[in-house]
Amino acid sequence: MKMITEGDLKILYTADEIQKAISSLGECLNKRYNREELYLICVLKGSVMFMADLSKHLKMPIRMEFIRLSSYGSGFSSTGKVNAVDISLPDLNDKNVLIVEDIIDTGHTARFLVDFIKHNFKTRSLKFCSLLDKKIKREVNIEPDYYAFEIDDKFLVGYGLDYDGYYRNLPYIGYVET
Ligand code: IMP
Ligand code: MG
Repeated sequence: MKMITEGDLKILYTADEIQKAISSLGECLNKRYNREELYLICVLKGSVMFMADLSKHLKMPIRMEFIRLSSYGSGFSSTGKVNAVDISLPDLNDKNVLIVEDIIDTGHTARFLVDFIKHNFKTRSLKFCSLLDKKIKREVNIEPDYYAFEIDDKFLVGYGLDYDGYYRNLPYIGYVET
C-alpha cells in the first residue's frame, strides 16, 4: 500500500467552510421537520464528525442511533461489497428517520442501508443526508435528499474520512492525488 503523509494532502474544504455548510443543512432540516421528532442514523465510522456537528444545529427532539457498515478496504477505491459490522436498530416504525453519511461514492452502501430499513420498518419518512456526494462515481441509482458538497473523483481524507484508518481527526477535508 502506498504511504501518504499529511504533507501530501491538499485542502479541499477548510474547517470553516465545512461548518458553514453544516449550519445551512441544519437550517434546511429544521424547516423540513419543524418540531417533529427525528431519528438520526449515523453510519460509523466516517460520519462521526458530521453527525456530531450537524446534530448541534437541530431544534427538534432527536434520537441518535449508530450503526457500522464498511465497504472500503484499506485502499483508494470502493469494493462494492457492503459489510454490516453492526446494524442493530430500535423500532423505527412510524418514525421520521434521517440517515447521516459522510460521503456517497458508488452508492452501494447507501442503497444497502435504505433497502435494509425499508425491508424492516414502515417509517413515517426516510431521508438521506450526506456531507459529500461523489456523483461521478455512482454505480447504483441513489441520490441523497440533502448534501453539502458535490465533488469529483478524488480520494478524500479528514473530518471523519480515513485512509487506512488514519486522518479522521483532521478538522478539514483534504485529498491526495492518486
Ligand atoms: P460507497 O458504498 O461506494 O458509496 O462508499 C461509501 C463509503 O465509502 C463511505 O461511507 C465512506 O466511508 C467510504 N468512502 C467513499 N469515498 C471515500 C473517500 O474519498 N475517502 C474515504 N472514504 C471514502
Ligand atoms: Mg461512510
